[in-house]
Amino acid sequence: MQTSEIEKVLISSEEIAKRIKEVAAQLDADYKGKMPIAICILKGSVVFFADLIRAMETPVTVEFMKVSSYGFGTTSSGKLSVSLDILSNIEGKDVLIVEDIIDSGHTMYALKNMLKTRNPASLRIITLLDKPARRVSEISADYTCFEIEDEFVIGYGLDYAERYRDLPYVGILSRSVYEN
Ligand code: IMP
Ligand code: MG
Repeated sequence: MQTSEIEKVLISSEEIAKRIKEVAAQLDADYKGKMPIAICILKGSVVFFADLIRAMETPVTVEFMKVSSYGFGTTSSGKLSVSLDILSNIEGKDVLIVEDIIDSGHTMYALKNMLKTRNPASLRIITLLDKPARRVSEISADYTCFEIEDEFVIGYGLDYAERYRDLPYVGILSRSVYEN
């Protein structure tokens, strides 16, 4: 890793760990006596997901999905492309979607609507990062670790052209990376 590729560390690994402890405690309180299905939204959520489920005392089962949104014009409500779906039946179950970042909100809006049709007992979203300034679809997370400014971030699971997911912190890329 060329450190010159990273303009700055936005959220350090220590800050992330501290915040995850706090939200995990909140989730433990909210899911007391339950065993939710935690769905990791690949690939960006993988690092956050692994840390979050281990910080929670509540037992969870884990599932993985890979989704993206498309077809959002100026009027339509858009479509969801599901390249990997969960195998388990979520009807009557408590479901927690674990996402890396909510940007326009299109992906989470469409995913939440799709999963709702499978009749879970409850359906909530936790996101590591939220960029509220960029929101287009009307969606908000039930739990947000950090709200950030409108900047493109990488690390801790988040990528730029599939790189930087392995960084232990959330950072901002140098302009030189985009311009090359
Ligand atoms: P949406 O615009 O809310 O549908 O976000 C879709 C996806 O875009 C997120 O799940 C991320 O994978 C990706 N994304 C949005 N903003 C960033 C960013 O700043 N860095 C890396 N990925 C991002
Ligand atoms: Mg993503």
